[in-house]
Amino acid sequence: MLEKSVMDAPFLKEMLETTYNMWRFGWDERNGGNISCLLKEEEVSPYLNVNGALRVIPLDLPVPELAGCYFIVTGSGKYFKNVKTNPADSLGVVRVSPKGNELEVLWGLADGGSPTSELPAHFLSHIARLKQDPDHRVIMHNHATNIIAMTFTHDLNERLFTKTLWKMCTECIVVFPDGIGILPWMVPGTDAIGMKTAAKMADRRLVVWPHHGIFGAGTSIDETFGLIETAEKAAQVYSIASAHREGIKQAISDEELWRLAEEFHVTPAEGILTVKI
Ligand code: 13P
Ligand code: ZN
Repeated sequence: MLEKSVMDAPFLKEMLETTYNMWRFGWDERNGGNISCLLKEEEVSPYLNVNGALRVIPLDLPVPELAGCYFIVTGSGKYFKNVKTNPADSLGVVRVSPKGNELEVLWGLADGGSPTSELPAHFLSHIARLKQDPDHRVIMHNHATNIIAMTFTHDLNERLFTKTLWKMCTECIVVFPDGIGILPWMVPGTDAIGMKTAAKMADRRLVVWPHHGIFGAGTSIDETFGLIETAEKAAQVYSIASAHREGIKQAISDEELWRLAEEFHVTPAEGILTVKI
């Protein structure tokens, strides 16, 4: 018999706060957006029975690389506004089966619910990021308003897009020196968009889906939220500044961006800034 209620688990509390904040920010209208967070067995076992499963869900795209991994994940079709009041319906704690072809549901996803339809993009991105960073934990997707708006007005070349964002707020190049990947427009919820997203995640932590939203990766929920928040803020500044009657008159120069990179010990992704003299 477990003594602790899962409602007291720090990983659950953090998901409730985060989904609500994302909704408050206007990033997650209706069921827009999804989060998955890797958990350690020792984080889960005080709260949930890890020696069995409530049910199993077959995976269309097997992920043997993640066999035995635990995740808390948002459910498909669930409104971020309501996660706080109905966590067992909106979220699930799952474990990937030993062969990587099934999900074992340990808690939540009540009444036959499914994990997010973007699970292929989440799982393949987790695999890509873990290869780069053993501390990687979180994939977060949402419909950040100003990022989406920018995909209508700005060139979709990822180098130009990244450079514009770096120039909008001084902190950007420090927070995402690896830049932003951009996919062509694609149908969401498919293995194909999952594979393309994960391929971009191999060497960066932000991927924009034009006219849809953004994917972010990080070592914690806080860090991933902050990463998306920083890009979204820069996109908002861009929208405001470029809509101004007189247009953008000045911005941070490439030389100043190099000085920031040097001061904060980050390496800007190649081919974006003019070469340092
Ligand atoms: P889910 O409700 O299946 O997570 O889908 C929301 C979404 O944002 C799709 O891209
Ligand atoms: Zn979406």
